[in-house]
Formats: sequence, C-alpha cells, structure tokens
Amino acid sequence: MTHTNERWGSRIGLILAMAGNAVGLGNFLRFPAQAVQNGGGAFIIPYLVSFLLMGIPLLWIEWAIGRHGGQHGFHSAPGMMQSIGRSSLWKYVGVFGIFTNLAILAYYVYIESWTLSYVWFSLTGAFNGKTTEQVSQFFSAYLNIGTGQSINLPIKAILFFLTALSINILVLSRGLAKGVEIASKIGMPLLLIFGAFLAVRALTLNAGEAGAVNDAFEGLNFLWQPQFDSLSNPKIWLAAAGQIFFTLSVGMGTVHCYASYLRQNDDIALNGAAAGWMNEFVEVVLGGSLIIPIAVAYLGLPWIKENVGFEMGFRTMPMLFQNWGPILAAVAGIAWFGLLFCAGVTSSLAMGQPVMAFFQDEYGLNRRRSAITLGGILLMLSLPCILFYEMGAFGEFDYWAGTFSLVVFALLEIIAFAWIFGIDKGWAEITRGADIKIHPIFKYVIKYVTPLFLVAVFVGSVFKPDGGNWLAAFSDLLHGQGWPFATDSIIGTVLNIGITEKRWFIDGVPTQIFILNMTRLLLLSTFIAISVAVYLAWRRKEVKQ
Ligand code: ALA
Repeated sequence: MTHTNERWGSRIGLILAMAGNAVGLGNFLRFPAQAVQNGGGAFIIPYLVSFLLMGIPLLWIEWAIGRHGGQHGFHSAPGMMQSIGRSSLWKYVGVFGIFTNLAILAYYVYIESWTLSYVWFSLTGAFNGKTTEQVSQFFSAYLNIGTGQSINLPIKAILFFLTALSINILVLSRGLAKGVEIASKIGMPLLLIFGAFLAVRALTLNAGEAGAVNDAFEGLNFLWQPQFDSLSNPKIWLAAAGQIFFTLSVGMGTVHCYASYLRQNDDIALNGAAAGWMNEFVEVVLGGSLIIPIAVAYLGLPWIKENVGFEMGFRTMPMLFQNWGPILAAVAGIAWFGLLFCAGVTSSLAMGQPVMAFFQDEYGLNRRRSAITLGGILLMLSLPCILFYEMGAFGEFDYWAGTFSLVVFALLEIIAFAWIFGIDKGWAEITRGADIKIHPIFKYVIKYVTPLFLVAVFVGSVFKPDGGNWLAAFSDLLHGQGWPFATDSIIGTVLNIGITEKRWFIDGVPTQIFILNMTRLLLLSTFIAISVAVYLAWRRKEVKQ
C-alpha cells in the first residue's frame, strides 16, 4: 500500500522538526498582535488555559493518530482518519488535513517571501535614513498596494515569492531526513540565536537611551500583568483559543504527518509535550519580548494599541532599528527578518509534507514529482492572494483555512479518536512507549473537556456578536432586534455583513464582494477536488486488490 519508507534520522531531528512546525510567523507576528488587541495581560490566562485544556490534549491525539496511521501505511490525514474512524467515510474528514495545508501555504509562503526580501533589503541598507512614513510606504510599494487599482501586481514581491516557493519545494524533494530534518536543525538554532540577540537588545532599552522615549519593560508589563476580569469575556477566549490552534499547528494534519514516520513503540507522550512547550517558550518568552517592547520603547503604548497588526513587523520595525546606528540597524534587520524566515520556512515545510505524502502513498509519485506537483498547485492558489491582496482574497484564505477549518477538523478528529476509536484504545495509543507518565486526568480531559471546549469555540465563532459583546447581543435578541452578528463571525462572513456594496461589478470593474465570492468558490472547489482525488485513490487501490 505504501510507497513511503522514510523515517526520522534522530530524536533531536524529530523534536526540532516538530517544534519548527509549530514555531512560525504566528509566534512573532500573530501572537503579539492578538495579545495587544485583546488587552495584553487580559489575554494571557485564557491563552494558557486553552493551551493546557485544548492544545496539549490535541497534540497528544494528533501524535497518536499519526503514529497509528503510519503503522497502517498512511502518512496523510485521509487514510489515518479512516483507520481510526472505522468507516470509509472518515477519509473525507481527512480531506481537511490536505486542504488546510494547501490553502494556508498559499498565503503563508507569500509572507515568508516578504521576510526573505526584507533580509535582503536590510543587508543592502534600503531603509537607511528613511522616516516612519517612508518605511511604511516602502512596504506598500513592495506589495503594490494603496494604488487605487483592483489588481496588485508586485513584480519584485512575485520574484521573491517564487524564490521562497522554490526553496520549500527543493527541501521537500530531498525527503524527510535529508531535507526537512536538516532544514530544522539549521533553522531552529539560528532562530533562537537571532531571537536571543534581539531580545537582549530590546529589553535593555531604557527611556532616554538610543532614541527610546519609554522603557521597553513597559511593553512587557502590559503583556504580562494578568487581569482576572477577562475570564468572563468570551471574545478574549475565542481569540486565545484561535491563537493556540494556529501557533501549535493543531487541526491541520501536519503533526499527524510528522508523527506517522515514528516507529510503533516510539515515545509520543514526552515528544509531543516537549514540542508544545518549546513552542510556548518561543512564543511567550521570545515572541513577547521583541516587537511589542521595542515598539513601546519608541512609539508608546497608545500608538501600538491603535496600529498593531501583523504588517507592523514590516512597516515599522526597520525604521525603529535605525535608532541603533547603521551597522546595528542592518544586523538587527537581518536578525529580525532572518528569524521570521527561519520560523516561516520550518512551518511551511511541515505543511507541504502531508501533501507530498498523499501523492507518494496514494498515487505512487516519487518525491521529485510530488514536490513539483505541490509547487504547481501552490502557484495557482497563491496568485489570487498576491494579485487580490487588497481586495481581501488573502484575508479570505486566512479566515477559512487558518481559522475555520482548524476548529472543524479538530472537533471531528477528537470525536473520531475519543468516541469512535474509543478513549481506552486511544489512551493506550498515547501512552504506549511513553517516556513520561501522563496524569490519568488527561484521559477525562480528552474525552469530555477538550471536545466541549472545541464545541464552545466553534459555536462562539459561528454566532460571535458585534464587538464581542454577548450580553448586549442577548438583550437585543430579547427585545426583538435580532442577533447582531460580528462581521468576522462565521455567519457574518458568509452573509458579507459589513460590506455595503453588494454589486459584483461597477462599470465593468470587479468589486470586493465579487473577489470575496470568487475566492470562496476557489477554496470550495479545492476542497471538492481533494475529495475527488481521495475517492479516486481509494478506487484505484480497490481495483489493484
Ligand atoms: N504554527 C505555525 C505558526 O505559528 C503555522 O506560524
């Protein structure tokens, strides 16, 4: 059945690859933005509780499903889900484990390519002497946005995108031990060195030194002073759970795939927890010590609260580094964007591997052909994200693949694992060969608490009210004014609430709603195409038998 007989070369290689899968752009760009937007210290308790009750259990489940799948010759989610779900229909749930990776990769590799180009720009002194406004404009010009055109055609950014895509495809085509593992062994230590250098510089910034107007520690205080009143705010819980999903790469199919190359009795309890905690360390300690403290030191907290977002890493940081003198500014730029590139590439390789494994296992393609096919598909899916970045195609990919699909897949997989495969067998699977003793309470957490948590997250996302204010929304409902869906709730997104122009074309020019609908159609077609590919692969196997 299987055409893959790859294995991890070493335990350290496996841990670094798994940690590299988790540690990504999310740790350094998404986490600080989410933390600030959700009240800094108010975010941290829901975030840590989500990690313990949802993140860690899901990691163990996904490692277990993966190792179990690998024993049956499956290295991608469709086959794995079928083998634990006990019905051939479960393989279609596994389609999420291919779809999500392809759709996230489509925009993720684009951001990764910005980091690559910004290493180059830092090296060549492109930001020297530029003002805040000019550095921000440099970014807009690079992406060809803000021109008033409905299509963005950023030639330079496309060239860097093709370079980043080629790097991914090349590494993947070299296989697990000689490609992914080596990249992780280089990328992860490099990332830690860059991060440590920047964190030391950031945290020693005091008001009045090197152009700083505030102590960098003010930023840390804002992030880490817990606020207990946030515990009753569902908006913050939703954001915290969403960040845990994205940062740990759970609900994607990547953890499953990497774990499928383990042997039957290899430990997953310690490895899974170690990779998860390592990600948290990098996110909370390093991710929290860079962009926010540095920006607070120079621009102040009110500015950050107003302007924070994932683009800030590109629009603002190169200018702030200028305060450190030309040489240190170049070094800091290389360290910051180099760190982002290392983080990004080790995650995108992890997202590429399940798709590679699917082609290899189910269609018998060799590594080279699998990698080229993956590259071709990604090129097609990325184009809308690049060309219609400003019209919202990029955001739409992120919403449906990077937010919605993760929760749906996680919910379905935990039902399959804890309730259909059965928690007793599931627990035996998690603890077999374990190098640590997991407290048995987690058996109940996995069976009851995590699924309920996931249901709450899903229902919360479907019905999220405007401004995240649930009490006001219930009051509106009771007073017969209907439910005020938030624009980014699932229903609000489907109904395009918040977009007033409903026409698809104005004077022959496509409107935003047209682009959004076409992007959704493309995503849906991708999901259906993968389902058909799964169906045909299984039919092919039946004919062969
Ligand atoms: N887990 C990856 C990240 O944080 C996807 O970016």
